[in-house]
Amino acid sequence: MAEVLCLGILVSGRGSNLAAIAAQIEAGRLAARVGVVISDNPLAPALRIAAEKRLPKAVVERKAFPDKASFETEIAAILKAHQVDLVVLAGFMRLLGPLLTAEFPDRIINVHPALLPAFPGLNAQKQALDRGVKIAGCTVHFVNEIMDGGPIIAQAAVPVLPDDTEESLSARILEEEHRLLPEAIGRLAPILTLRR
Ligand code: GRF
Repeated sequence: MAEVLCLGILVSGRGSNLAAIAAQIEAGRLAARVGVVISDNPLAPALRIAAEKRLPKAVVERKAFPDKASFETEIAAILKAHQVDLVVLAGFMRLLGPLLTAEFPDRIINVHPALLPAFPGLNAQKQALDRGVKIAGCTVHFVNEIMDGGPIIAQAAVPVLPDDTEESLSARILEEEHRLLPEAIGRLAPILTLRR
């Protein structure tokens, strides 16, 4: 039997999407395994989650490299060493450059807390509230070099309630992210393992 989809998960912070993916795998609802978790932030709480779940992990700090290309070359080398099929950006706070996107064509996805193409970039939930939208949500999309700009894979809508704050709206969107991201990975898995 062919081995299940191997994920490389890139993080910078909290790691709740990493935990959601790992939980779905542990529950037998997602046929995948986490090959490696890579953080650009040595203090990311996501690294503690990786340690608790005994997932292989690495820290690659941007400041340890003279330029973005050599930073991404190191990340690509780690992903390849772990034979990663799909790279998942789960709160990775950097725009990828041409090196990584060329190394993993159509094999990098991201989760964003807005209904793209509306509200790309930082503070998407605040942007949505400030514009007064009535339907917010989240998007899983392929990653290219444009910020939150690649083709859309899946979306979930989240109604904005009259008394929503940035915190309350973000929390409800996050719940949907935790459902949508593992689901999208599951849908991509058969195609990506076939194309190995
Ligand atoms: C999520 O809201 C995700 O959409 C955005 O960054 C946040 C990461 O959260 N790209 P976490 O680190 O997975 O908890």
